[in-house]
Amino acid sequence: MDKFVIRGGRRLSGVVAAQGSKNACLPMMAAALLAEGVTTLRNVPRLADIETMADVLRSLGATAEWEGPHELAIDTTSVERYVAPYDVVRRMRASIAVLGPLLARFRRAEVSLPGGCAFGPRPVDLHIKAVKELGAKVDLRGGYIVAQAPALKGKRVNMTGPAGPSRGATANLMMAAALAEGVTVIENAAREPEVADLVNMLRAMGAQVDGGGSSEITVAGVEHLKPCEYEVMNDQIEAATYLIAGAITGGDVAVEGADAGYLSLFDERLAAAGVTVEAGGDGIRVRGSLPVAPLEIRTAPFPGFPTDLQPQMTALLSLASGRSVIVEGIYPDRFNHAPELGRLGAHVEVTPPTAVVNGVHRLYGAYVMASDLRAGAALVLAGLAAEGETNVRRIYHIDRGYERMEDKLMSLGASVERAQEE
Ligand code: EPU
Repeated sequence: MDKFVIRGGRRLSGVVAAQGSKNACLPMMAAALLAEGVTTLRNVPRLADIETMADVLRSLGATAEWEGPHELAIDTTSVERYVAPYDVVRRMRASIAVLGPLLARFRRAEVSLPGGCAFGPRPVDLHIKAVKELGAKVDLRGGYIVAQAPALKGKRVNMTGPAGPSRGATANLMMAAALAEGVTVIENAAREPEVADLVNMLRAMGAQVDGGGSSEITVAGVEHLKPCEYEVMNDQIEAATYLIAGAITGGDVAVEGADAGYLSLFDERLAAAGVTVEAGGDGIRVRGSLPVAPLEIRTAPFPGFPTDLQPQMTALLSLASGRSVIVEGIYPDRFNHAPELGRLGAHVEVTPPTAVVNGVHRLYGAYVMASDLRAGAALVLAGLAAEGETNVRRIYHIDRGYERMEDKLMSLGASVERAQEE
């Protein structure tokens, strides 16, 4: 297993480019199943999660080949199986994105239940509801979702769950509805730009989908879809992580491809913390000085503050001049980073769904362990600001979502080395 060895305390400065969006790309790879032939995706990040989804597609009989550094060709001509097995699905929850496409193409799908998640329960009831509403019969058997639908029929479906709309279930419903009979209206659809990007891709495949980015998406089913070429949007969570790296080191960092529309609330919160934020041209630039001002943050579905930036913001606020309150509105238990930040000297008290962060003057390097992707990113950020050496263990979690994080950070002047865990 690899770890990062970070020598902290350096002010980062410079420009990095955002990678393609992992969370936009994963359901797009599944959407390729909707048409027979070769679909080519561009701006695809080279990440462990993308390889896992490629393995899911291969397990179904597709091929997935890199045609360039960030160009992935998916050939679905020989797809003949409709079972997504436990062995691959257990590696990544997002594999459930093949449920809708398989059902649409084969009228049958068997997808392993994804199982647990490091930051609390993540049910799949809304995915199952989505396909049931279109007429699928669904059983849970032997750890699998077993779905059959001789016919899929469009209708009005509400996608709200206990924490608001579900991105993944909205995507599955859109993909199944694209080849269903009649019109599906998705009420309370997820509004994330990643969902809107999938709408655009489906349109490029010939689907009749409208309303991406709004809370009502309309899908008029068609008989066939065609493969397409599509450029994936940039990864705004990755972009914001590097902007926080600038802020937490009192540095000056610009990220090309950071989108001020997507990140407007994030930018507003950073500015409220006293960070200078300039959006313009092709990106966002931050200039930080410590301590930052304390903040109140509540995560919520888009356009609210993204839960995928909560751990990283917690790291930044651990160096604030007072008491911050963070309420996790999506995943009440997503605070695995808190005790690890504590090992670096941060004061974070968690009573789910809330974390109270009492800012400290300094963090000090220590051994810490990444428990999931964004928690890992938060520990790297804290390590960049900490005095002395921080060893972040289990960085395979970070490699799931950040392409060559150490290279990008080093290009900004950080000292981050990938080493083998002893
Ligand atoms: N939910 C249900 N039932 C369901 C599905 C979801 O109750 O069937 C609940 C979840 O437990 C959660 C809320 O609905 O409280 C929202 O979950 P959603 O379905 O929108 O999440 P997701 O599609 O599984 C995506 C991202 C996550 C991100 C969440 C929330 C992908 C591949 N993953 O997951 O990204 O945290 O949306 O914004 O798009 C990450 O990148 O680190 C990551 C975990």
